[in-house]
Amino acid sequence: MCHPDTPSHFIAHRSFGAILLLSLISTPVPLVAQVDEYEQDPIRYSRTEPDNVITRLQTKLDSGDQRLKFEDKTGYLRSVLAALDVPVSSQTLVFSKTSLQRHKISPRTPRALYFNDDIYIGICQAGDVLEISAVDPRLGTVFYTLDQEESVQPKFLRQTDNCLICHGSSMSMGIPGHMIRSVYTDLAGFPMLGSGSVRVDQTTPIEKRWGGWYVTGQHGDTTHLGNLTIRGKQVPTDLDLSASQNLMDLSDRFDPAWYLTPHSDIVALMVLEHQTDMHNLIARAAFVTRQALHYQDSLNRDLGEAADHEWPSTGSRLESAVEPLVKYLLFSGEAPLKAPIRGTSGFAEQFAARGSRDSQGRSLRELDLQTRLYKYPCSYLIESPAFEAIPARTQTLIYQRLVNILSGKDDSKAFAHLDATTRQTLAEMLIERKPGFATLWQARSTASAD
Ligand code: HEC
Repeated sequence: MCHPDTPSHFIAHRSFGAILLLSLISTPVPLVAQVDEYEQDPIRYSRTEPDNVITRLQTKLDSGDQRLKFEDKTGYLRSVLAALDVPVSSQTLVFSKTSLQRHKISPRTPRALYFNDDIYIGICQAGDVLEISAVDPRLGTVFYTLDQEESVQPKFLRQTDNCLICHGSSMSMGIPGHMIRSVYTDLAGFPMLGSGSVRVDQTTPIEKRWGGWYVTGQHGDTTHLGNLTIRGKQVPTDLDLSASQNLMDLSDRFDPAWYLTPHSDIVALMVLEHQTDMHNLIARAAFVTRQALHYQDSLNRDLGEAADHEWPSTGSRLESAVEPLVKYLLFSGEAPLKAPIRGTSGFAEQFAARGSRDSQGRSLRELDLQTRLYKYPCSYLIESPAFEAIPARTQTLIYQRLVNILSGKDDSKAFAHLDATTRQTLAEMLIERKPGFATLWQARSTASAD
């Protein structure tokens, strides 16, 4: 149900949008009631003041401490990337008409995306705006546009309805969040949805990824659906992938001169696909916790129970958010690499170099790229401010699950990919990084010593 002070046009607009969207990209219909839960207490998504790298940059722009430079073709892009410390090597290119400025996107004019741990930025050739999704520890993901017109006072505009039509649907786990897709695309860039569409995360087999995207890099015999457009209305059963694999250069597909780099780096794509859903799961765990505790509080109030009275349903709600997060965090079901991969833009080296190292010189950002994406199968986002913003109660549940798994007490199939040495290494790494984990790990040792 809608919150009483939710403007009715807001709901009407969004459900209309959802129906439009359904015909456009055949997304399962988001239940309006479900979509709106994040607009109610205690989250109040659209009505809560954000606090993230964009709000902080805006403050500096307003006070004159920082300026943005406008350039001919790409407008504010280069300057925004520099201001937010987003590496140009993170560029990926998507040519399917699947997002907001779809009329500007085609195989000859792909949309470019850039990202770091805190922010994702999209740009289209001759686009009206830069499109931005920012990690906001309290609000999950917050969306902005920046007009691509030179101005004395550039303003990042917070966007809700316009973006949530897609970014607040079941495609983004029912909360404001991210999504990456893979679709067969025709010569003009239209997605051929009759032939299927895949929502991509780290578990998606490489063979199904990157439909509608460009991909530069080496990946041996493994095939993917990137760099491919389909002639005609049907995807042929004997699809010819010979001209779309292991590409190092895309200049025969489009003119790279417009872009900051000529790459759509395979490693950047894979990190992006890990990170987007990790961010979604972290945001969802935080939302679910706050909602469940809020609900329990009002129930206790209404029923005259003690304020700390615990309802079993609260625990099960929290667990339902924790388990998928823990699985994803530890790369359960990660799509294996059947051949080593190598990127083209220098992204891999730059990404790994950003990591803080522990006393043994190890970082969760080290890449493997031989049989899996990361050397240590525990997401570096466990060190992010977004993870820290998950309410303590749920963080403890997460750490307890991690202790059980890494100690070998939980030897279920979902974690069979972690051998004893890996579990031990991850435990050591987390003890140094996460005091909450260290305490529970210590308690386990004491308990088993008894
Ligand atoms: C019609 C659906 C649709 C709308 C509306 C939409 N997006 Fe997206 N967006 C997508 C899809 C699909 C992707 C995945 C990449 C692709 O296919 O282009 C995406 C990806 C992105 C990304 C990259 C990473 C991520 O998923 O967060 C950013 C940034 C982004 N969109 C920003 C925005 C902003 C800002 C708005 C509103 C001003 C917006 N989008 C509106 C469909 C949409």
